[in-house]
Amino acid sequence: MAIKTVGVVGCGLMGSGIAQVCAEAGYDVVVREVDEGALKKGLGKIESFLARGVEKGKVKPERKDEVMGRLKGTTNLADLAKCDFVIEVVVENIEAKRQVFQALDAACGPHAIFASNTSSLSITEMAATTKRADRFVGLHFFNPVPLMKLVEVVRSPLTSPEAFEQAVAFATSLGKTPVRAGDKTGFIVNRLLVPYLLDAIRALEEGVGSTADIDEGMKLGCGHPMGPLTLLDFVGLDTTYYIANIMFDEFKDPMFAAPTLLKRMVLAGKLGRKSGEGFYKY
Ligand SMILES: NC(=O)c1ccc[n+]([C@@H]2O[C@H](COP(=O)([O-])OP(=O)(O)OC[C@H]3O[C@@H](n4cnc5c(N)ncnc54)[C@H](O)[C@@H]3O)[C@@H](O)[C@H]2O)c1
Repeated sequence: MAIKTVGVVGCGLMGSGIAQVCAEAGYDVVVREVDEGALKKGLGKIESFLARGVEKGKVKPERKDEVMGRLKGTTNLADLAKCDFVIEVVVENIEAKRQVFQALDAACGPHAIFASNTSSLSITEMAATTKRADRFVGLHFFNPVPLMKLVEVVRSPLTSPEAFEQAVAFATSLGKTPVRAGDKTGFIVNRLLVPYLLDAIRALEEGVGSTADIDEGMKLGCGHPMGPLTLLDFVGLDTTYYIANIMFDEFKDPMFAAPTLLKRMVLAGKLGRKSGEGFYKY
């Protein structure tokens, strides 16, 4: 089956980037958001990303128009009916995702492959709520999507080898490098990354070092491009908190337990870059 039209459900931090790279790769893209305001904001993010590229001379103005021309926004899930491949990128909550997939399952053609960009929820659990569990994969992109090369392609025990290889080929067609992973909570990257990020918060809580010194230590001591607390601000403290809770629930291992400071910061609305303040002020 040739993939021509891609559906993207959710146009927040990750969904806007995913919609952008799909349009850049030449796919027609239908993007669904909950209301006109969220849709305008999401598509606006793509427009300003490309506009910055034009200003810097990296993107031709006509290329920006061409990419924007392939993106169609909607608030109606039924508008994704003709999509060949649909990527769900809504909040990290199983109930919200289940509702989206059940509605998509009823709206889309039987040939369409479904993918979730979940960081920590079970692909098998989501797949089982649809009638196309054999054509259901995880497609885990990284932030910022237009710049980060990696996509984890996740297979559940129900995914057919054909659909899995199509998803791998689709990720490659976006100019990304796919790695194959099984449906274990956190897949490869978050399984290793999340305990590290949570430990950085615990180190701060325990007074091992200041915010700046913890970040500088990991940058210069381990050659990381950014420190863990800066990275947490990029990812979003709310998103990290949801992921930690889901991983703790799955593995019952204290290394995944959300530190008190993380919970307090989320309750206080300090969510990182997206709210203007996290471990740093923006
Ligand atoms: N933030 C990261 O670095 C990162 C990285 C990889 C994966 N993820 C995963 O990507 C997903 C989205 O995360 P995000 O950071 O983009 O969150 P976000 O809060 O920035 O965006 C979520 C968007 O989904 C929209 N939405 C909610 N319900 C919807 C529905 N029924 N239909 C259409 N839109 C709906 C919201 O309005 C919001 O704009 C989560 O599953 C998260 O775990 C996040």
